[in-house]
Amino acid sequence: MPMMKVTISAAMTVDGKISTAASDSALSSRQDLRRVHALRAASDAVMVGISTVLADDPRLTVRLAKGRNPARIIVDSTCRTPPQSRILRTARKIRTIIAVTEKAPAANIVAAERAGAQVVTINSGGKGQVDLNALFARLEKETGFRKILVEGGGELNWSLLRLGLADELVVTVAPRIAGGRLATTLVEGDGFDAMSEGIKLKLIEADCLEETGEVVLHYRVARNRRGRGGDGGGLFNACRGTESR
Ligand SMILES: NC(=O)c1ccc[n+]([C@@H]2O[C@H](COP(=O)([O-])OP(=O)(O)OC[C@H]3O[C@@H](n4cnc5c(N)ncnc54)[C@H](OP(=O)(O)O)[C@@H]3O)[C@@H](O)[C@H]2O)c1
Repeated sequence: MPMMKVTISAAMTVDGKISTAASDSALSSRQDLRRVHALRAASDAVMVGISTVLADDPRLTVRLAKGRNPARIIVDSTCRTPPQSRILRTARKIRTIIAVTEKAPAANIVAAERAGAQVVTINSGGKGQVDLNALFARLEKETGFRKILVEGGGELNWSLLRLGLADELVVTVAPRIAGGRLATTLVEGDGFDAMSEGIKLKLIEADCLEETGEVVLHYRVARNRRGRGGDGGGLFNACRGTESR
């Protein structure tokens, strides 16, 4: 059985922020959003961390490109996804999976399921957060998903990169500086002590959106835990033909 392709997608400022300290993350042009929506349409599922849901209340649907909506997956240890969130309000129409741990209160799970979500409990092994290796193994086994697009935020990006679960990174650099030591960066977490430990990336393509001044950088993760460095079958290649450039 082929393994899933996991692509991290984000937009950041030149100083690496994906949102301001006040959680404003609106930094992409419409042109770039169209590209992201085409990536969604080419994915089986879009995954986000719960803090992104709470901050942005995203829909994660395909509206600015042609194609079907992918499933949504929220990584949410205690099932805090609000029933009134846009994702849960549309969970009866668009497949929505919430990955929780054994710590999730039963009442929260019932509320999410009533809204139409499929709640999947992944044992945290005492670590408190969703065990992403176990989640991906379960998704691979039970869903038939082949392409997962991860749309942040910084904590989820760190966990996936640290565990070697991400194959590709597509990041738009917006011509803007946000500053702010409390602003969320592309990758959060504990980070590495030595730069030499940092995760190595291979640049596949760099596109310049001349009208907006954005630069779209497409990287392959040089080596991941699954021993793959990407084989050209990822989302970006699937979408190149649909980009407006
Ligand atoms: N510009 C962009 O492209 C972009 C994209 C997305 C988000 N954002 C911004 O990013 C910010 C949110 O990012 P964030 O870094 O604060 O949070 P995040 O990555 O969205 O969510 C992190 C949360 O997910 C839950 N989680 C459960 N298991 C996890 C695991 N194994 N690894 C990591 N997280 C796990 C944890 O909460 P529990 O313990 O409660 O489960 C954790 O605190 C928002 O301001 C949003 O606007 C920007």
